[in-house]
Amino acid sequence: MRSLLFVPADSERKLAKAVEVPADALILDLEDSVATANKPRARERAVRFLQTCGLPRERLWVRVNPTTSAEHADDLAAIAPSRPGGIMLPKARSPEDVLALARALDAHAGGQGGADEPIGILPLVTETPEALFQLGGYGACGPRLAALSWGAEDLGAAVGATAVREADGSWTPPFEMVRNLCLFAAHAAGVAAIDTIHADFRDAAGLERACRAARRDGFTGKLAIHPGQVDIINRVFTPSAAEIERARRVVDAFARQPGAGVVELDGVMLDRPHLVQARRILES
Ligand code: COA
Ligand code: MG
Repeated sequence: MRSLLFVPADSERKLAKAVEVPADALILDLEDSVATANKPRARERAVRFLQTCGLPRERLWVRVNPTTSAEHADDLAAIAPSRPGGIMLPKARSPEDVLALARALDAHAGGQGGADEPIGILPLVTETPEALFQLGGYGACGPRLAALSWGAEDLGAAVGATAVREADGSWTPPFEMVRNLCLFAAHAAGVAAIDTIHADFRDAAGLERACRAARRDGFTGKLAIHPGQVDIINRVFTPSAAEIERARRVVDAFARQPGAGVVELDGVMLDRPHLVQARRILES
């Protein structure tokens, strides 16, 4: 999944628009983009959308309300029977919150069964201060864990930060650190790292820079909040023809010398990490 577009599920207009957007996944949002009074309506509209939109279920995700909220159980009871591709869990405090969600999905009729894949889980793992001290354990979450992602806004509010970004759009040091922790937590768990939103949705150049930096560092996708962001994200997170060609040449260089730990290509030394990275590009 390169691009995952949030769609406030109380908005018929945005749901209708979302069907045509080439995002790898839609995240029907029941949480922060929906006012409390609209939560029941958003839930109903999300269910209807899941049942009628005609998109493949892998592309359909739902962000439920957090584990500790009054709406969480009702969200799951409404959503699980429609079998979306996955659930985004906001404000995850620890791997235990993911395991609790997995158990809840197991308990719902349709949450597990059938021939198709189980409903996946994508937690936002940096939205509370305590969550940062549990980041090392997501590898224990089992096969439903699809990826990890992060958010700065809720964490910033939780600690009383007056800003999470510098004037030039870059993260302030505490939130840059959190981004980096999410990256390594995801890879430690053996799942994809998905970068957070670029909130300034008219800033195409800034979004492209953020995507390039994220891809360079080991994120494989990015959350989106506006349809106009999706093409940029998809393009940057797709390996270019030149990258694929180069990766093929690296793999070939090792294949020509079976047993060699280190080879030479274009005057440069290559060893195992280069081979791993080249294979990763060819598999993506
Ligand atoms: N999903 C689907 N459609 C969307 C969309 C989204 N996230 N954001 C905008 N659109 C639609 C609009 O409805 C509009 O369609 P229309 O012409 O049929 O009305 C079109 O795309 C262009 O939108 P635009 O006028 O540029 O933006 P806006 O002012 O309507 O909306 C936001 C701006 C930020 C309010 C909107 O993009 C949004 O709600 N984003 C998601 C926010 C969210 O989910 N936040 C929680 C996660 S952090
Ligand atoms: Mg939030």
